[in-house]
Amino acid sequence: MSKHSGWKATTVAVSWGLVALAALVAVLARAESHATLYGDHVQCEQGQTGAGEKCRIDLFLTRGFRAFSQCQVCHGLDGNGSSFAPSLVETLREIDKDRFMEVVANGYKGQIGVMPGWKQNPNVMKYVDNLYLYLLARSDGAIPPGKIERYDR
Ligand code: HEC
Repeated sequence: MSKHSGWKATTVAVSWGLVALAALVAVLARAESHATLYGDHVQCEQGQTGAGEKCRIDLFLTRGFRAFSQCQVCHGLDGNGSSFAPSLVETLREIDKDRFMEVVANGYKGQIGVMPGWKQNPNVMKYVDNLYLYLLARSDGAIPPGKIERYDR
């Protein structure tokens, strides 16, 4: 091994370290900025923010959760995807709200299959903002999958 290859390995290791750090910072910054969108709708036990099972949601997000029942048949009971539709928890990390609204209203045909449009379905369209924020909070890990308790009864 030459004198230089040791340096090279170190440089590569440091670069990967920086890439990993940048990715972590990006993930944290993203969850932080989203939290301003759904934070008012989620209540977690003190010091437990993001710890999932310790959190409860309000009526607004509960309506989103109910609307999500229309999606489960394809996207999975917990939204983590199935053999014929992608994970919404993952997808929400990649698309913006405009794309979400467009896809949910009008559907599209992609490589995996057909995503139906819901613009004729009031159970979905009336609560599409709720549904978006519910899924966003899910994809950030701010609330757990499944039925979740309400705090504003
Ligand atoms: C009949 C099955 C089915 C149902 C029900 C369904 N989807 Fe989909 N959805 C799909 C498939 C299949 C795709 C992937 C299409 C592709 O890219 O090939 C998809 C893709 C998506 C995407 C990804 C868009 C993108 O740009 O990557 C979103 C978001 C989405 N669906 C949201 C929803 C929501 C919200 C509901 C419930 C209101 C829902 N889907 C109900 C089948 C379904």
